[in-house]
Amino acid sequence: MALCESGRCESAFNIAGYARDAMRRLGEEWGVDLASLSVQPNTMNDASPDLIWQDDATGGKLPVSRRFDDPYFSATDGRAECEFVFLAGNGLPERWADAETFTIGELGFGTGLNLLQTWRWWRDVRQPGQQLVFQSVEAFPLDAADALTALARWPDLTKDAEALWDGGFDTPRALDNQTTLHVHHAMAADAVPQFASCDAWFLDGFSPAKNEAMWSPELMKSVFERTVQGGTFASYTAAGWVRRNLENAGFSVERCPGFGRKRHMIVGSKP
Ligand SMILES: C[S@@+](CC[C@H](N)C(=O)[O-])C[C@H]1O[C@@H](n2cnc3c(N)ncnc32)[C@H](O)[C@@H]1O
Repeated sequence: MALCESGRCESAFNIAGYARDAMRRLGEEWGVDLASLSVQPNTMNDASPDLIWQDDATGGKLPVSRRFDDPYFSATDGRAECEFVFLAGNGLPERWADAETFTIGELGFGTGLNLLQTWRWWRDVRQPGQQLVFQSVEAFPLDAADALTALARWPDLTKDAEALWDGGFDTPRALDNQTTLHVHHAMAADAVPQFASCDAWFLDGFSPAKNEAMWSPELMKSVFERTVQGGTFASYTAAGWVRRNLENAGFSVERCPGFGRKRHMIVGSKP
């Protein structure tokens, strides 16, 4: 009988069996009972963000994922990067002018910096009665203390950052009476099909070379399916295979000048 439908569990058991046999044989060769050695359990659980910290040019602390070997945002200025790449790249704030409800989807919630900067711009320009819905996904959630440390380099964001991180992420949450946040704690491939259709996407996974799952053909297809006609995306990366995945999913894709030291970024729309 198969232990699981995919057969992966059986393969895992087989591999574990081969490993045990190899240990036993090695032990015999060395004259040591390797099976009796205790192995310390890995205290990092699978959903741990596994952070290390770097000092950035402004004296702030930049969180870097050891799991993906990549920083959460630009060491130059993550906030300016958010404005340039994700907000302006999606034609915001101008596109908010005529919207009754505007829905943004994000891949990779991280520290919440993109949400905080978007919320700030939104509050500056919104009209009474308009609604913003911000949906994001995060498989390796930060704890509040780490997120607030990362965001501390922008003191004028601190009040909003504390309100955000003190509030919890269990359900869709009203940040104010015109702004709703929904963070799915799941793998993007599982969560995006449950997103409401989006007017704009912030594609903000770690570097495609280090985080392929966030840019896969299947996920880009899913993003396309959850985009309204005329909806847009923006991303800091211009990697060729990511562009092709987005084009094959159905988006029109354009390469344009990137932020900071990045030569290019990409933007696109659903025809
Ligand atoms: C570049 S960081 C995002 C930074 C974030 N937008 C911010 O404002 O701080 C990428 C994020 O994607 C998350 N991530 C990576 N792979 C994922 C996956 N397959 N599904 C969901 N989240 C993932 C990482 O844990 C990380 O928080």
